[in-house]
Order: sequence, then C-alpha cells, then structure tokens
Amino acid sequence: MGAFNAVKITDKVYWVGAIDWGIRDFHGYLTTRGTTYNAYLVLADKVTLVDTVKKPFFCEMMERIKSVIEPQKIAYIVSNHSEIDHSGALTDAISVVKPEKVFASVNGVENLRAHFHEDLNLVAVKDGEKLNLGDANILFVETKMLHWPDSMASYLIEEKVLFSQDGFGMHLATGERFADEISEEILCYEATKYYANILLPFSSLILRLIERIKSLGIEIRILAPDHGPIWRKEIDKIVGWYASFAEQKRARKAVVVYDTMWGSTARMGSAICEGLISCGVSVKQMSLKSCHRSDVVTELLDAGAIAVGSPTLNNGVFPTVADLLTYIKGLKMKNLLGVAFGSYGWSGEALKILNESLSQAGILLVSDGVKVRFVPGEGALKECYSLGVLVGENLRRRY
Ligand code: FEO
Repeated sequence: MGAFNAVKITDKVYWVGAIDWGIRDFHGYLTTRGTTYNAYLVLADKVTLVDTVKKPFFCEMMERIKSVIEPQKIAYIVSNHSEIDHSGALTDAISVVKPEKVFASVNGVENLRAHFHEDLNLVAVKDGEKLNLGDANILFVETKMLHWPDSMASYLIEEKVLFSQDGFGMHLATGERFADEISEEILCYEATKYYANILLPFSSLILRLIERIKSLGIEIRILAPDHGPIWRKEIDKIVGWYASFAEQKRARKAVVVYDTMWGSTARMGSAICEGLISCGVSVKQMSLKSCHRSDVVTELLDAGAIAVGSPTLNNGVFPTVADLLTYIKGLKMKNLLGVAFGSYGWSGEALKILNESLSQAGILLVSDGVKVRFVPGEGALKECYSLGVLVGENLRRRY
C-alpha cells in the first residue's frame, strides 16, 4: 500500500482524485478551506477514468489509480469539463495510460483542443448518448453553461452514480470523502459560498437541470461531484440547497460593505447599520480591508439589500470597491435593493459612480444615497442613520 490510495465508493467506482489543502485563491475566490479535485475510476470491463485533476496533482492521482489497478488497463477517459482544474492532468494521463478513446461533449472536444493544441484522440458525445463499458453503461447528460459551454455530467447507470462535475460541489479539503462524515454547518456554508461565487449567474439553468434529472427518472444512489465531498446519504439535502440558492430567496438582511481612507466612510457605514438594526434587519457590516469579495457575495446570496460605500479617490471610487462592483455585476443578482454612500474632499464623484454601477448590476436603488465632505458630523451621521431606516423599512415591507 502506497501513501496515496483510492477510496472505494461502490463495488465498481473508486475516488482517485487529489486534495489541495493549501489553495486559497481559486481564480479570485478565497478558498479558505482548500479544495479537492475529484477524479473517479470505474472498474468496468472497459476501465474508465472520469475526469482528471489539476496538473500539479497528476502524480497523486496516478498513485491512487495504481493502488487499485495498473493505469495502462484504463480503456477510456471521460472529460466532463475542460477547465484545467479537471483537465490539467489529462495530457499527462493520456501519455501514461494511452487510452483507446477520450470522450467529451461536442463543445468539450473543441475546448480541449483550444487548451492543448494536440490530437488527444477525442470523441464527441451528445446529450442522451450512452457509452457501453461491457458490464456497465454511462449516460451522458449535457449541462451547457453549468458553468461552461462544454460542461456535462455522466451517469453510471448500473451503479446509479451521477458524476455531476462542478455541479453540487463545494471547495472543501477534508480527509473525509463523504458528506455524511462532515458537519452540516460546514457543508451548508461552503455550498452557499461555492454557489454564490460560481453558479449564481446560471440559476435558471440549475432549476431546469434539477427538473430535467427528475424527468429522466434516474435514481441517484451516489452524487459524485468534482469538488468537495461525495453524497451517499441525504442527496436531497444538497439538491434542495441548490434549488433554494437558485431561487435567490431573500430575507430581512442587509450587507453594508465599504472601504475607507481615513475612517469617514466607515463611520457612515456604521451609522447606516444602526438605522437598519433599528428596523429589525439582520446586518452584516463588511469592511473591504478585512473581508474578501467572495465572502461578501456569499453573505449577499440571501440578503435583501446592499449598501455600498466608497470615498472619492482621484475622481473615482476606491479600487477595492470597484473590484467588488465588477464582481457583483458579473454574478447577475436578482431582487436586491441597494444604496450608496461615501465621503469626499473636493470633487465627490464616487457616489454617482456607485449609483450607476449598482444600477448596471441590476440592483434596485431605493435612494440617491448620501455623501459627506471630509468627516461626517452629527447631522450627516443622522442622515446615514435615516438611510439605513429607509432601507430597513423597504425590507420590512418585502420580508
Ligand atoms: Fe472545477 Fe469549472 O472547474
């Protein structure tokens, strides 16, 4: 037995992925608890590897494969998604394994060629197509734009295992391979964060996918995503969480987020929070000096309102606030109320830019916002408090 071993999932399926304990920046997402890249080995007559791992983890994956079978016995590789956290080790795996065929969706074939610029013996499969592995069969289910055009899921019919790729995953590095071995609080938080940061813009597609899986009438005994734990019990729980995230149900909650130069915008933010609290609103005050953009959008997933603050710097908004607004715009949040605030010295353009940015992100402004020259006095702080009350009253009417 070597250091890196496979984990048995069913009689025919083994986890042969990698644990990335140290990653903290996953293309701009703060992965505080690391992640896993899950690859799966199907021990059918035609031995099949479903997905690979990020390139630096190739050896770890191969060691795990070797713990159950000689890698050269792998006949097929299925690439459900071309993003390189799953395909980075594909070319190395092909060099060692020399599989008969590598299967991907039509878009997957195109995208893998655009990544690797070599002939990988790729075979395109279509939605609903079945692949016979001898004593087992895989059904391919296209999941276009969840979250790339090439994304698909693979269902191992006889074992009732759905390899759901990024779907139903989370960034969570653990020694435990199964969700039922991990606390629900951690699972729910990391699933929320993953959804808010990666899948939120595709929420309508998520709801359609859940309906589609139901309409296919396939029974899922194991839900095996490519990140985080594998679900062998209470699969309805993670599917239900996803359905609820996709509906973007909001609550009487507000996120007050800002950056500050000399503390004036921060003080305005605190006064807005007090106004919100007086209306019974649950408040998250988040300074961008200590909170990461990915944590802010996690809190926004169920918030009914956002207040964004920035001082004016060189006729614009503070760079960290601009970063956040760009990120939020891309996530296409729905049914979110917003206001802006900030201090300035002489020109004061930030408030107008914040209002425009919030509108462009589809956030419904409930006020023109508040701006204060240099340092807020008692009157300005009362104005900020009143802004918080205005947002709070709007939230009370809605939730
Ligand atoms: Fe985990 Fe879209 O890659």
